[in-house]
Formats: sequence, C-alpha cells, structure tokens
Amino acid sequence: MIQIAILGLGTVGTGVAKVVAENASQIERKLGESLQLKTVLVRHFKDGPYRQLMTDDFSRIEEDDAVRVVVETIGGVEAAYEYTKRALNAGKHVVTANKQLVAEKGCELLALAKKRGVNYLFEASVGGGIPVLHPLTQCMAANRIDEIYGILNGTSNYILTRMVRSGAFFTDALREAQTRGYAEADPTADVDGIDAGRKICILADLAFGRQVDPAEVPMEGIRHLSLRDVRIAQRAGYRIKLLGRAVRLPGSGRTAYVAPHLIPEEHPLANVEDVFNAVVVRGNATGEVMFYGRGAGEMPTASACVADVMECLQASPRREEIGWEPDVQGFEDPRALRSRYYFRIEGSLTDAASAFGQVEVLSEDGETAFLTETLSGREAEERAGSLQVLSRMRVLG
Ligand code: HSE
Repeated sequence: MIQIAILGLGTVGTGVAKVVAENASQIERKLGESLQLKTVLVRHFKDGPYRQLMTDDFSRIEEDDAVRVVVETIGGVEAAYEYTKRALNAGKHVVTANKQLVAEKGCELLALAKKRGVNYLFEASVGGGIPVLHPLTQCMAANRIDEIYGILNGTSNYILTRMVRSGAFFTDALREAQTRGYAEADPTADVDGIDAGRKICILADLAFGRQVDPAEVPMEGIRHLSLRDVRIAQRAGYRIKLLGRAVRLPGSGRTAYVAPHLIPEEHPLANVEDVFNAVVVRGNATGEVMFYGRGAGEMPTASACVADVMECLQASPRREEIGWEPDVQGFEDPRALRSRYYFRIEGSLTDAASAFGQVEVLSEDGETAFLTETLSGREAEERAGSLQVLSRMRVLG
C-alpha cells in the first residue's frame, strides 16, 4: 500500500481525496499497489468523511516515513512554499495545482527536488484537467517551441460566455463561477488576468527553458471589457476571449502577456466556451497543436493531481525533463509584437484615418470602431496618442 497526504481541503484537495477513493481499483491496477490517503493537513478541523485523517501539525506528515507523496492544495505562496520545501527535504515527492507557487518559485523547488532525488510535479497548475505540461515536455520534446497561446482561465471564460449568451451581469456570472468551484479564493486573480498570467509563465518557463518573472508580464483581465465591443466584434465575425500568450524571440529572447483579444470566428479558440480552456502550442516540427478540456473545477483538477501522484511513483527514479534555468535575462516588452488592432474611439472615421491611415471600419455611430493594419504594440500606442480611445485590443492571427 502507498500512502499519501493532502495539504489543504478546499475544492482541489477534496477532489483529490474523492478521486483516490472513487477510482481506487483503476489506480491500483496501474500502480500494482493500492493508494491510500493517510493524512490531511487543515487549519480548522471539520466534520466529514476525512475527520479521522485531519491534523493541523505539518510535522506529523513531514516525519511520517510512510507518506511518500504530499499533494499541496493550499494555494498561495507562504505556507505552501514552506511545507513544499520541508516535504522535499524530507525525501517526499510533492504534487501541486498551485500555479502561483510554481510560477514564482518553481525553478528553485525543482532544483531542490532534483537534489533530493524526488519529483515536484504540477500538471494541474495549468489547464485544470487538460494534459498539457506533460505533452509539452515529453511528446513535443523534439521540437523548438516558438509560441504558446490560449484560454487559460476557466472563470473568465465562463463569465464571458454567460454575459454573451444570456446577457448575464458580470457580478452574477462571477458568483456562479464561484459556486461551481472554478474561481480562486480571491477571484480578482481570475478576472484581472493574474491567474492566466501565472499559467502562461509556467508554460513559457517549460517551453523556452528559462525563468519568466511573473512581475514582468503585463496582465490585463476582463473587468473593463465592454459588451458593446463584444457585440461589434461579433457582427464583424470575431469573438472576444482572454488569451495568455508567450512568444520566443530571436536569440534567447522571449516575451509573454495576458489580454483580451479579438479572435476570428473560424479559429478553433473562438468556440471554446464556459469553463473550457484551450492551449495552442506551436512547435517547429509539429506546427500548431491544440489541447482542450475543462480548465477548472474539483474533479478535472484533481484528476491531473492524482495522475501526477501516480507518475511520481512510477517514474524511475524521477522525471528529468521537467525544469528550467533561473536566468530571467532576455524577457522583452510584448509591445514589440506585431498584430492588427481593434480600436473603439470617441471620434470620427476621419480621426481614425488621420492617426492610422487605412483602417477597416466596423461601426460608426458617434463612436468609431475599426481595425488597423498590422503594426507593433508601440506603434499602436503612439499613433493612438491623439485619439480618445475607449477600447483597444489585439486581433489574433
Ligand atoms: N481559478 C482558476 C480558473 C482555476 O478559473 O481557471 C483553475 O486554475
């Protein structure tokens, strides 16, 4: 029998306990031994099915040689960081869904895991139940990865879908996402693009092999998105989605950002709705590969955690291909990237044309909405300097 511990019993921690219990026979068949939840670290004791397993003292897990894998689902950095280091130092594998910790401290924790001869795995930190990190580092290992982009936050995508499909108010749609267990404890991370930003950092770290500091990545969410823009975009054959994007630049340069984009309706990302996420990875040999599935929620995220637990126990002696260099040099301002831009301005077509030259008009009724030719983010900003800009977004493609 193999015994594990869970740190934190929120949405994901509870899901992990359920998957271990509900799928016990499949897991045992694959591992050749049964998997048992031995201890659960909580801050406050609660009645329920795991009451007998609860402790509020991490050293009981740390000092228990029978616990081989620790699943960290506390979230945030402070306590999670300390317990992860202590568990790795105690020679235990650690599995997590904690994207903040991985984005900020992943490089260091991976180095510590390597030193201790154990695994630190975090498939569930990006894309919930979608297998994406494993395929990126293993199945696509023979590629140079040039770009990754996608819908990386289930809560924002759920809110956008509800607003567009049934005219729901932002706050009502957010409350629904919270009830369904999609949102972070502090949902500002979801709606302000920070959660997607952490995920694009992790993807970029693994894809490009060097640390991207989340503090350098511009992150814009959906809070200020106007339904007016959504409708104008739809009439013109586009959908608006919050995308995280990371691009390899010449030399060892790289850039990343999160922002709402206009997506042509024929692009596969345009129809990714509700809590679904999709990640497109462009390899120099494969071309574009897309990963799609439920990006948040108790059971999908738990599925990825438990698969990592099994991977830790099966990988012999440990997975070596996961990791990146701590070097943060070479991160460049994403405004260097070129694309078409959508603008809505308080002004006329003449104003738009005098700033941008040739434009494609989408709507004109006191305000003017238009698409520019392809230009860099810096040029777009400079040329719009004299205009009264109400909205501005990149167009994908
Ligand atoms: N709050 C996150 C989301 C959970 O909505 O995508 C999964 O990482």
